[in-house]
Amino acid sequence: MDADSHTPLNADAIGALLPFARRIGRPLLVLGETTSTNDEAARLGREGAPEGAVIFAERQTSGRGRLSRRWESPPRRGLWFSLLLRPAFAQAGWTRLTTWAAVGIARGLEEALPGCHAAVKWPNDIYLGGKKAVGILCESAMGPGGYAVVGIGVNVNQARADFPEELRERATSLREAAGPDAAPLDRHAAAAALLRQLDALYPALERDFAAVVAEAQARSLLIGRSLTVHAPSETYAATAEALEPDGSLRVRCAADGTIRRVSGGEVSISGWQ
Ligand code: BTN
Repeated sequence: MDADSHTPLNADAIGALLPFARRIGRPLLVLGETTSTNDEAARLGREGAPEGAVIFAERQTSGRGRLSRRWESPPRRGLWFSLLLRPAFAQAGWTRLTTWAAVGIARGLEEALPGCHAAVKWPNDIYLGGKKAVGILCESAMGPGGYAVVGIGVNVNQARADFPEELRERATSLREAAGPDAAPLDRHAAAAALLRQLDALYPALERDFAAVVAEAQARSLLIGRSLTVHAPSETYAATAEALEPDGSLRVRCAADGTIRRVSGGEVSISGWQ
């Protein structure tokens, strides 16, 4: 199936599947092509657009991931979108957004594909069947009029051959998780499921973040496993113990048994590619 045979995304078709009273998904825009939907959401943020704006693009020419990595965004195969948010609490706490988005997206994937289990690989990846299906990139502008952008890339309808060679062993899509002969999923229904779940979970970001962390921990791929921690200033072996109340990762360092809190960088699971 080539790109053109996948139904183009339409903002009204997604909006029709969302509750009228919602915070996230108003307005809802679909662009044909852009550099990165995070760039578009940031532009709206600078222009004073309201919290809750969501921008999808069928194609990103410079889709990006964490740690300056490139994000593959093949046209019409996935959902490449960004949320513009202005949380009403102190900006120092906006780091919570990654945990909130991971849990909301995990719930949305399970709604879009009943029977699947979505696991969270701290801090910002969602895995289906042991492979990465979603990446989340949070970027923010602090200060008066500050805003946060939560960029989300969901592999929906890629077949194995659609992934570049170097990603084939590590990446998957919702369609692939549905089974070897599964038909392409309806991206409008998937987009709406994700936005509904994020919207429903949004109040918990401020009022019950402990429950969000508890769910992220219950879904975590890391807890109890041996890891390599690639912190900004050092790399070391450790075991993941728990998520901290702020969403950071508590690990026990293998070399000296000390407890450390990881809030940046990346972790890899020992024995995984
Ligand atoms: C990662 O896995 O490191 C995060 C990937 C985030 C990709 C999404 S796609 C929509 C938004 N626009 C971007 O350029 N990046 C995010």
